[in-house]
Amino acid sequence: DSSPPPNRTIALVGLMGVGKSTVGRRLAQRLGLPFADGDHEIEAAAGMSVSEIFATRGEAEFRAGEARVMRRLLEGPPIVLATGGGAMINADTRAVMKRRAISVWMRADLTVIAERVGRRDTRPLLRGRDALQALRELAEARYPIYAEADLTVDVGGGSHAQAVEAILKAL
Ligand code: S3P
Repeated sequence: DSSPPPNRTIALVGLMGVGKSTVGRRLAQRLGLPFADGDHEIEAAAGMSVSEIFATRGEAEFRAGEARVMRRLLEGPPIVLATGGGAMINADTRAVMKRRAISVWMRADLTVIAERVGRRDTRPLLRGRDALQALRELAEARYPIYAEADLTVDVGGGSHAQAVEAILKAL
């Protein structure tokens, strides 16, 4: 449609498996903004996959790289940004996000997320663990942080298309 693109970055936050990347890409199309995926940018910068970074360098180094990538993307021109589920843990990232972006917490039932992430094995934090139990622990630690987002959108167990509409409505 003909409305001008927003002049702020839209940062999608929330747990892994909630649909940030898929929904973000579609949202970007609808808003006429470029799309960036935080995890992919980290992978491109490191020349290896997220799993490989965790395995060979450890989580702390991954987090440091993630914070650098987040700052670079958030300080650039407006985009739709799918963040990694742990990006907001970093206080600097939260601060630059507050300043530069409209953050949107995509929230869904943990059972729905567990069912989605169970189908792939790309998430080092879930490796070898019961997905639902691991997600419960992440949720307990992170929901208070995600709650600092500017907007919260319940994407429930709905389709990605429905999530896009729900976010557009909330913006
Ligand atoms: C992580 C989420 C992942 C990825 C890494 C760590 C987390 O991103 O950054 O595996 O700490 O929640 P997605 O949320 O895109 O799966």
